[in-house]
Amino acid sequence: MPAISRRTVLLGSAGGLLTVGGLAACSTSSGTAVTSSSRAVETAERGRRAAGQRTVTARLAPRQATLDLGGPVVRSWAYGDGVPGPLLRATAGDRVVVTVDNALPESTSVHWHGVALRNDMDGVPGMTQNPIGANKQFTYDFTVPDPGTYFYHPHSGVQLDRGLYGVLVVDDPAEPGAYDAEWIVVLDDWVDGTGQTPDDVLAALRKGGAGAGGMDHGSMGGMPMGGLGGDMQSPLIGGAGDVAYPHYLINGRVPASPVTLSAKPGQRVRIRMINAASDTAFRVAVGGHRLTVTHSDGFPVATTETDALLVGMGERFDVLVTLGDGTFPLVASAEGKSGQGMALVRTAGGEAPSPNVKPTELRKHVVLGTQLRAAPQVALRSRQVDRKHDLVLGGSMRNYRWTINGKTFDDADPLGVRQGERVRLRLRNMSMMFHPMHVHGHTFGLRETGARKDTVIVRPMAAVEVDLDADNPGQWATHCHNIYHAEAGMMTTLSYRG
Ligand code: C2O
Ligand code: CU
Repeated sequence: MPAISRRTVLLGSAGGLLTVGGLAACSTSSGTAVTSSSRAVETAERGRRAAGQRTVTARLAPRQATLDLGGPVVRSWAYGDGVPGPLLRATAGDRVVVTVDNALPESTSVHWHGVALRNDMDGVPGMTQNPIGANKQFTYDFTVPDPGTYFYHPHSGVQLDRGLYGVLVVDDPAEPGAYDAEWIVVLDDWVDGTGQTPDDVLAALRKGGAGAGGMDHGSMGGMPMGGLGGDMQSPLIGGAGDVAYPHYLINGRVPASPVTLSAKPGQRVRIRMINAASDTAFRVAVGGHRLTVTHSDGFPVATTETDALLVGMGERFDVLVTLGDGTFPLVASAEGKSGQGMALVRTAGGEAPSPNVKPTELRKHVVLGTQLRAAPQVALRSRQVDRKHDLVLGGSMRNYRWTINGKTFDDADPLGVRQGERVRLRLRNMSMMFHPMHVHGHTFGLRETGARKDTVIVRPMAAVEVDLDADNPGQWATHCHNIYHAEAGMMTTLSYRG
């Protein structure tokens, strides 16, 4: 039923637990860093393990591959022979054991985006583990505590902008499942193998922006950008990305040769949407339909009706849709850029829409993650904030240096916290670009709406405050999920101190 490959989810016995040495972050705040090899990490994990825990095992084989994107054939890197990589599926509370056989020509890592897992399995080389060298193997082994829609990708350079991503669904044993079918929709921006690699793109951006694939930011003095005909205001007004991609994909296909998502008229489907793109936010709508948003970044929200959703890089949304009779386009329009991804929603015959179709829903009511409210059962309980950190987001296209509090990651000041604290992060964007900010290992609550998220869009020159409970000891990457911004410095560490 979902139009992506569903293989390699095997139930079986666990492999051996692999221990890795943690690396201490520099310590400008008081106390010593609670590293990923600390006892506290093991203790926290023991708290997540229940008796009779089931184990889900899988293998991932990152390697060079020739991919057919539904017309364009590209050489890239993938987890197997297609994009997205294998769908991994577990139930909340399960132990997930994934062995990675690295057949890439360089070192890699796998990060489990959004999962509140043990710190030494978070997949950040130099922070929580050593890189997995070429031809080397590493086994991730962790408990998945919370149900939801997650994904996995490398945390090594700009490898995410290759074909290296896949979805991890954690089912809720207590969920009623008030829907007839489930579809998984993965959004991506694509450049690799079209004459440039993501490394070439980064080099071009560093050399002074507008290379072959660069966006023209010269004419953007606060004007809405094109991409939808120019008459539509973008909430990301100012700058909606640095790279003009040749292709935008849904489940690995260009719009000229889309995947088909099938069901029967009148059926209710749950769509799990994941934005795995590196530099593109997508505005998503289904022609002729309304969307009921039920989850954001895996956690339930107060259900919200909308025509369209804006999905930042690293964000996930689950929506329910009651299907009409016919064939409809599911469009992911590249916000502020020209181009789109498309999938076909089919419940009956009818001609396939054109790859350029722009459903009117795209121009109607658009919801952002920051506008959603938490479902009451997942709202953080109110309590006094013990510690506040400001993260001033800055940078410029001129030298392509992106900063948090004026510093790039190599000399960033870690955000010190102590276990048990309620922590407030004040994300203040002082740049003309939007930044989808992501915190590893935690699902924060938006101060304004309570919505639980791990990735939140901070619009140009705007601020968002998020609260989290420091209940998962270790060193946690905190960064912009624009992979080029992260690589160019917009990253720091949420650093537990002992
Ligand atoms: Cu999906 Cu550190 O990222
Ligand atoms: Cu950014």
